[in-house]
Amino acid sequence: MSVESRITNHESREVLQTSLPLPLYGRGKVRDVYEAGEDLLIVATDRISAFDHVLPTPVPDKGRVLTALSAFWFSRTGSIVANHMIAWDPVEIVRRVPGLDAATLPVLAGRAMLVQRCERIDVECVVRGYLTGSAWEEYRRTGAVAGVALPPGLRNGDALPEPIFTPATKAATGHDANITYTDLIETVGGSVAGDLRELSVRLYTFAATHAALCGLILADTKFEFGRQAGRVRLIDEALTPDSSRYWDAGSYPQSLLPFDKQYVRDYLNAIGWNHEPPVPTLPVEVVAATRERYLETYRRLTGQELRDS
Ligand SMILES: Nc1ncnc2c1ncn2[C@@H]1O[C@H](COP(=O)(O)OP(=O)(O)OP(=O)(O)O)[C@@H](O)[C@H]1O
Ligand SMILES: [Mg+2]
Repeated sequence: MSVESRITNHESREVLQTSLPLPLYGRGKVRDVYEAGEDLLIVATDRISAFDHVLPTPVPDKGRVLTALSAFWFSRTGSIVANHMIAWDPVEIVRRVPGLDAATLPVLAGRAMLVQRCERIDVECVVRGYLTGSAWEEYRRTGAVAGVALPPGLRNGDALPEPIFTPATKAATGHDANITYTDLIETVGGSVAGDLRELSVRLYTFAATHAALCGLILADTKFEFGRQAGRVRLIDEALTPDSSRYWDAGSYPQSLLPFDKQYVRDYLNAIGWNHEPPVPTLPVEVVAATRERYLETYRRLTGQELRDS
């Protein structure tokens, strides 16, 4: 099936790329972003990226999980920090955005969010409650993560004594690099760096407590922030299985059972992909298992089924 017919075939549950009648602000690895007057319209597609490459195979329903979960968290964390969300109800979006009409509702439904356009602060604000991934690699080499010294003898997957803030650069292309808090102060100034660290750790702690009640461990997560009218806002996506590591609490610590994108990374490593093009396709069973994990994360965190829309 061609990309175009996937987009227009509303029977199909997968959306690889959208083409709405609005000026394109940019296409990220996962989101198509449109200008909507002073605001932005962010449409989460079903694209999946791993190791900085978009895979040719979409994961049906993934975009709707990302948007619904971001909305879930945005609506619960407003007392910690303001965020960019204006609306994600498709009818309200069509009503507010000139240029959209009822014909666009099927593309918008569940996956689009109208947001305040912000001046992005170009830092990935990572918080880790558990030691794994690139932090585990760094700890093994140096005994520290992003300049934060950690106790000796920790193992992959161990809980950290307290959540740590390990910022990274937002590289225009390629891989984001971990930076120290001192580097962050040099980039954004001491006052903004302090705000980013405090807000990120508070958001992580709030979400990790909620996740624990739902049978999930929030091992780590990444936030993006922006400025708008002199105010710092949480932007992009929040606490989704794309931006976070969620593990099944029941299987921990015997196994770090991933309810997030790690499942796909593990598959790609198992087939020996060197993380360079050509980018492998995913077999149907890996797509189905990934989709089921994203839906299960949604189900556990919200206590609801993802509605068909
Ligand atoms: N409120 C906002 N104002 C401005 N930009 C935003 C806002 N919310 C999200 N963005 C940006 O929109 C894009 C969303 O697309 P996507 O998440 O697919 O990008 P990405 O591949 O992760 O790329 P990037 O490396 O730029 O984050 C990101 O560049 C993100 O930083
Ligand atoms: Mg992104």
